Amino acid sequence: MSPFLLTRTLPEDATGADLRADVLNGLTRTPKVLPPKWFYDARGSELFEEITRLPEYYPTRAEREILAARAGEIAAATGARTLVELGSGSSEKTRFLLDALTALHTYVPVDVSESALTGAAEALLAERPGLDVHALIADFTRGLALPGTPGPRLVAFLGGTIGNLLPAERALFLRSVRDLLEPGDALLLGTDLVKDEQVLVRAYDDAAGVTAQFNKNVLSVLARELGADVDPADFDHVAVWDHEHEWIEMRLRARSAVTVKIRELDLVVPFAAGEEMRTEVSAKFRQEGVRDELAAAGLELSHWWTDTEGRFALSLATAS
Ligand code: SAH
Ligand code: AVI
Repeated sequence: MSPFLLTRTLPEDATGADLRADVLNGLTRTPKVLPPKWFYDARGSELFEEITRLPEYYPTRAEREILAARAGEIAAATGARTLVELGSGSSEKTRFLLDALTALHTYVPVDVSESALTGAAEALLAERPGLDVHALIADFTRGLALPGTPGPRLVAFLGGTIGNLLPAERALFLRSVRDLLEPGDALLLGTDLVKDEQVLVRAYDDAAGVTAQFNKNVLSVLARELGADVDPADFDHVAVWDHEHEWIEMRLRARSAVTVKIRELDLVVPFAAGEEMRTEVSAKFRQEGVRDELAAAGLELSHWWTDTEGRFALSLATAS
């Protein structure tokens, strides 16, 4: 078998149909919303990687610290032969797991971003010619069909990406992950933790303006994919802490009254001056909340590790 397989689990036109549905639903309601998965075209994936290197954006460094310290324990606890990674992006931190999992047979990165998957696989295979990589272009919220690789499986969901799902979406998602697990399989979950508001807001509104570019990139996706005549300069990047929900909310705020015409949808979307469209939530967690959400999905927390500053957590869970 070739050491690299790339499988598209969604029909070619599914992404387009999903985007149309999300834009139609999200931009015709009040307040306007778009799901964050549309940030990640090739440019959006590059911008996210730039974010991970920003001084203000601590989650990647904090999670890397935990993985560096705990990969051996994770490998010993799971003995995984297949590592499935949801929202794998550049797979950069995954190297700690790949190094520690001595019985590993296949790595299955799963992402909506084809460019991120191929870039990550090329880099990994150049470093590790013996590694079997079966990449899936797939939406992890849409019922995953995994390849028939040997167990036990470790399903990793790193970066705190679970926080980009709304609570009801998280419950469905965790239940679907639970349904993928067979006896002996495990979930490794990265969650960013509740902390000082200023630290959080700075992480999502950096001085160099990279997160602003990332946020506005969704407008370029609408322009290219749906023929939207939208000028990113008409919008400001906004990041606010929502105390009640304990999440950061990213929004795009119209600088003045502006009308966006979306040719492919035959849709005219008026924005009032100052009107905001939500483009992402990034929920922050506490240990009890993670334990409860896992339990509600039929998963039992077995390990909880944080970085030395207590900013970020990795949880290991098995089916209960
Ligand atoms: N895990 C990496 C990347 C996090 S960025 C890290 O920790 O650094 C979030 C990744 O999830 C991106 O690569 C994005 O393309 C992917 N993603 C976002 N929504 C997705 C979805 N619904 N299905 C599959 N992948 C998704
Ligand atoms: C991918 N995800 C966990 C990032 C986050 O922190 O919520 C996406 C991001 N948004 C702005 N900066 C980074």
